[in-house]
Amino acid sequence: MIEGLLVVLEGIDGAGTTTQTELLARALGRRGLAVHATREPSDGPIGALLRQVLSGRMVVPGDHGPRAPGWSTMALLFAADRLDHLQAEILPNLRDGVTVLCDRYVASSVAYQGLTEGSPSVVDWVLTVNRHARVPDLTLVLDVSPEEAARRRARRSGRPELYEEEALQQRLAHFYKDIDKHFPGHRLRHLDGHLPVEALHQEVLRAVDELRARG
Ligand code: TYD
Repeated sequence: MIEGLLVVLEGIDGAGTTTQTELLARALGRRGLAVHATREPSDGPIGALLRQVLSGRMVVPGDHGPRAPGWSTMALLFAADRLDHLQAEILPNLRDGVTVLCDRYVASSVAYQGLTEGSPSVVDWVLTVNRHARVPDLTLVLDVSPEEAARRRARRSGRPELYEEEALQQRLAHFYKDIDKHFPGHRLRHLDGHLPVEALHQEVLRAVDELRARG
């Protein structure tokens, strides 16, 4: 059995990773390819906890309302969720020859947890705690301006999540542009997140086709 490919989509909040993951899964499925779309935080137990933290629903008993753990605890929770996600969902699918599409992965931890503290050594530490996470076969980074991403987020319902704050998103957009330097030897590709949804989908599909053609 030939192992499936692990393809990751990355970008700031509002870059379009969720939409493009769904479109890609449908397009590959229509071609008869076995495909599994997933996301991080995952739908496993640690992922569920993280989603509560991100949306401000995690209330610490005895405290005065919800509070988010600090960046280092968040980095460890995201890394733990990732390893659990790999063991329970990603690796079994890859072993069955299924192509796995993951909306966010290690690069999100490097960007979000790496930046919230601000010191360069934090990025190394985030990479260290993610050392056992399987390397993706391809990471597609959807680059979009923080202004456009903010406009898209404003159109969504619900209140902003933990990291959906303008100043941080601006720093994240900048950081993502140059994120390749933290992943030497990995296959990363930047795509223009400003393209209309369908045009960007075609670019995503082309990048995955190129990867598959390389075998
Ligand atoms: P997102 O992917 O936008 O999901 P949804 O559309 O369901 O809200 O939100 C996940 C948030 O988690 C996003 O702000 C990025 C953040 N995140 C990290 O900070 N570190 C990580 O390692 C991952 C996977 C996500």
